[in-house]
Amino acid sequence: MTEPDLAQVQAEALAAVAAAASLAELESVRVAHTGRRSPLATVLAGIGGLPPEWRGEVGRTANLARRAVEAALEARTATLEADEMGAALERDTTDVTLPGDPHPLGALHPITQVRQEMEDILLALGYRIADGPEVETEWHNFTALNTPPGHPARSPSDTFFVAGHPDRLLRTQTSPVQVREMQHSQPPIHLIAPGVVYRRDDIDATHSPMFHQMEGLSVDEGLTMAHLKGAMLHFFRELLGSEREILLQPHFFPFTEPSVDVQVSYIDKNGRSSWLELAGAGMVDPNVLEACGIDSERHTGFAFGCGLDRIAMIRFDVPDLRLFFENDLRFLEQFA
Ligand code: DAH
Repeated sequence: MTEPDLAQVQAEALAAVAAAASLAELESVRVAHTGRRSPLATVLAGIGGLPPEWRGEVGRTANLARRAVEAALEARTATLEADEMGAALERDTTDVTLPGDPHPLGALHPITQVRQEMEDILLALGYRIADGPEVETEWHNFTALNTPPGHPARSPSDTFFVAGHPDRLLRTQTSPVQVREMQHSQPPIHLIAPGVVYRRDDIDATHSPMFHQMEGLSVDEGLTMAHLKGAMLHFFRELLGSEREILLQPHFFPFTEPSVDVQVSYIDKNGRSSWLELAGAGMVDPNVLEACGIDSERHTGFAFGCGLDRIAMIRFDVPDLRLFFENDLRFLEQFA
């Protein structure tokens, strides 16, 4: 091969390098123009067969050509790598200025809202929150609360008993929390116990086998019905409006003596005033204090218990209790 040929080989190689549009193309160019079967390699391999006086000159020129092509390959590689990186960055950019996907904020369930309001009112009076198990012993739920063995509430037709555990039941009221707390502390005791309770009721607009109650208990020296009445009046006025009146009507509960129904004045949609029964209450029966290890000669107490679901229905003007348990977002979103 002569020198003009070598110059042409080099020019073609450099042109091919410059024209390679991707790293993959450039690799083919490298193989074609510097590989073992390339024209350059052929020239270099043939040097030994040239007349001696040509060898130096052709060898030098061929080597220069090879180096020029290799340098061009290297430079082109760097350029293409940078281009491809740039393109990848371009492709993958996230535009942080785009508005994000909105995260809808949830809201508290209406029963939770009512419970928290009730808690706030009573915490401000000095009550603390106590908790107890939903699967209770018959003793805590009934016996210690002065409810005798033959009492109808103790029958399996009213109460869910745990299969295989005749002594265990789903608590029918939050009152057993009174018992648990009195067993472990001495007066003064001021506690509230919100929670879920269970009874064998068929479901309808005003009944559910699972519902919510809040219990209250005060035990101290010298507590009377006047304290109970004052606490109830304050509680319902704070919760339902300062114009409310309350009426205590004689009633019976096994664990209080005397016992009352707490009725709260209510003006219905037609402007007629009436009374709503919203809580049970009374002076803690001395038998209950004694069953829990509290000296009933020295201490007296009052207790109250009310249903949250009923109050939430009034509070939010909801006509059907079942709505609270169905978890239909169309209903729940109205309380956000
Ligand atoms: N536990 C009663 C019920 O579920 C409500 C109740 C009435 C609670 C009188 C009390 C009370 O603490 O003194 O019907």
